[in-house]
Amino acid sequence: MSTFQLDTAISRAHPTPAPMKRLTVPAIQARKVDGTTTEPLVMLTAYTARMAQLLDPHCDMLLVGDSLGQVIYGLPSTLPVSLDMMCAHGSAVVRGSYHAVVIIDLPFGSYEASPQAAFETSARVLKETGAAAVKLEGGEAMAETVAFLAARGVPVMGHVGLTPQAVNALGGYAARGRGDAEAAKIVADARAVAEAGAFAIVIEGVVEPVAEAVVAAVACPVIGIGASAKCDGQVLVTDDMLGLFERTPRFVKRYDELAQRISGVAAHYAGEVRSRSFPTADQLYKPKP
Ligand code: KIV
Repeated sequence: MSTFQLDTAISRAHPTPAPMKRLTVPAIQARKVDGTTTEPLVMLTAYTARMAQLLDPHCDMLLVGDSLGQVIYGLPSTLPVSLDMMCAHGSAVVRGSYHAVVIIDLPFGSYEASPQAAFETSARVLKETGAAAVKLEGGEAMAETVAFLAARGVPVMGHVGLTPQAVNALGGYAARGRGDAEAAKIVADARAVAEAGAFAIVIEGVVEPVAEAVVAAVACPVIGIGASAKCDGQVLVTDDMLGLFERTPRFVKRYDELAQRISGVAAHYAGEVRSRSFPTADQLYKPKP
C-alpha cells in the first residue's frame, strides 16, 4: 500500500479511520515566540505503524530515531543502523499517523561527508517515507549542511550535546557540558545549527544550566532529553518511557513497567496452553447484540 494513500477500511492496520489534520514544520517552529514556548512541544519516538497510531493523538512530533538500532534490532549502538532500516520504519510511522509531524534520523555515515551527500540521503528519506523532516547530529561542523538542506526544502532538526553517533569520540554516554569549555562549545553548536536554519534542536544529556543557556540562545524550539524541564519541549524513547527494558538511562522517567506486564501475560498464555485450558474459538466468540 502506498504511504500516501489512506485506507479507510476497518482492519487491524487501520482501526480508526478518522484522519486528523497533520501539523506542519512551520507550525512547530512558530510555537516559540520571542524566546517563549507557551505550550511545550511533545515528541516521542515511534518505529512501527501501530505505536505511531497509539502515540499520534498525543504528540506534536513523532521521531523515527536511530535508537531503533538498539530498541528494535538489539544492536550495541546506533552506528550500524542503515538507511534502509530508517526508510522502512519511517514509512510505517507515516502510515500510522495523521496528526504529528514525522521526523526521521539520518543514520551514521549517510550525511556527514558533504552537504550533497546529506541532500541525497534526505531526498531518499522524504520521498520513500512521506515524512516532513530529517534530524541529524552535530553542531558547528554540520552548520553548512543544515543551511544547504534548508535552502533546498528539507526541514532539519538539529541534535547537540550528547550525540550517540559520536559515542566513540565522546568515550561513552555520560552527561555533557560539565566544564566551561564543553558548555560553551554546546551553546556554540546549537547557535550554529539554529542560525543555519534548523527548525528545532534536540539537546540530549547535558547539565541543566547548559540546556537553559541553549534555550535562551536560539530562536527555534529546543527539545530536551535528559536536559531541563525548561526546554521548549521534551522527547523520550517510547520504549524507555514504557519500561520495556530493565535498564534505562538515569534521566528517563518510567511511566509504566510494561516488560513485567508482558512477561506476566506470556506466562499466563503459556500456562493455559500447557494445561490445555486454552479457550476454543466457540468460547471466545461473542455474537453482536
Ligand atoms: O534516536 C533517537 O531516538 C533520538 C532521541 C533520543 C532524541 O535521537
